[in-house]
Amino acid sequence: MEASKLSDNKIKKIGVFTSGGDSPGMNAAIRAVVRAAKHYHLEVIGFVSGYDGLVQKEYKILNTRTVGHILQQGGTFLKSARSKDFRTAKGRQKAFENLKELEIDALIAIGGDGTLTGLKVFQQEFGIPGIGIPGTIDNDLYGTDYTLGFDTAVNTVVDCIDKIRDTANSHNRLFFIEVMGRDSGFIALNSAVASGAFAVMLPETDISLDTLISLLQRNRLKGKESSIVIVAEGNVNGNASEIAQALEKKHPDYACRVTILGHLQRGGKPNYFDRLLAAKFGVKAVEALIEGYANCMVGMQKNEMVLVPIEKAIKVHPDIDRELLRISNILSE
Ligand code: F6P
Repeated sequence: MEASKLSDNKIKKIGVFTSGGDSPGMNAAIRAVVRAAKHYHLEVIGFVSGYDGLVQKEYKILNTRTVGHILQQGGTFLKSARSKDFRTAKGRQKAFENLKELEIDALIAIGGDGTLTGLKVFQQEFGIPGIGIPGTIDNDLYGTDYTLGFDTAVNTVVDCIDKIRDTANSHNRLFFIEVMGRDSGFIALNSAVASGAFAVMLPETDISLDTLISLLQRNRLKGKESSIVIVAEGNVNGNASEIAQALEKKHPDYACRVTILGHLQRGGKPNYFDRLLAAKFGVKAVEALIEGYANCMVGMQKNEMVLVPIEKAIKVHPDIDRELLRISNILSE
């Protein structure tokens, strides 16, 4: 499926917003969109709290100065939400009328799969061109090697695991560390390898409790005194607390502890990689609209900027890096 162009394209004013779970680098992406738009003499309006801002007509007029000094900040200064109103036909109709009134010709949405799904539906219903910027710590959008915020989030997770390892070692404990990822194990797998975790449990794999126990016992015989198991929140066989409880029931001799990293993974300032990605995504999104593209997500594949049809980005579930999983298994032996 190729990215498609619209024939009649005269964009003068664009609306930008962040939606769904925030991710480090969203502010940097807003800044890049606004400054690229200004470079091409376009006006920009920033909608507050994602699609809710479109429905409620809550917005800020953005210019080069209003997006100064936000590049390095985590979160999103435009706020984010998962809008209930926009899921209704009535809400979307209201959003369309507001856009008409504000004379907005095109939209740039920064967010994950829910955000892009909303953009696709809205374009189909009302024909307003839209480009998506993949902004989620989960890295679970097809067509881009990296989503905005993923790299920073994994670094945050690795930093936390390193700290937990210190105390795990001191007490000869088995730690289960739960990381985000309802449907995908990118954060879990990458952080597990980067922190030298003993095992990783994901939505995409199926490690049973018995398998985990036999691996633990094998390593115990080899003299391993403490272990870290990374569990993605959407792990098929239960979350970190459930696995730890089930294990302790069978083997009370294991001193288990559970740490749920939760939303701290979403916060913090974007690292160098995500700032660069935000700059590239923002400029590409504006230029794509100017060139007449619509219904696409910007992405990065093998270090090249690409446009991916939104349909494909949200429909195809990207698989975790199986080679990395193999490496993880080898190194934890
Ligand atoms: O979509 C990103 C994400 O971080 C998921 O990994 C996680 O399950 C979810 O957001 C939790 O978000 P919230 O608590 O905001 O609903």
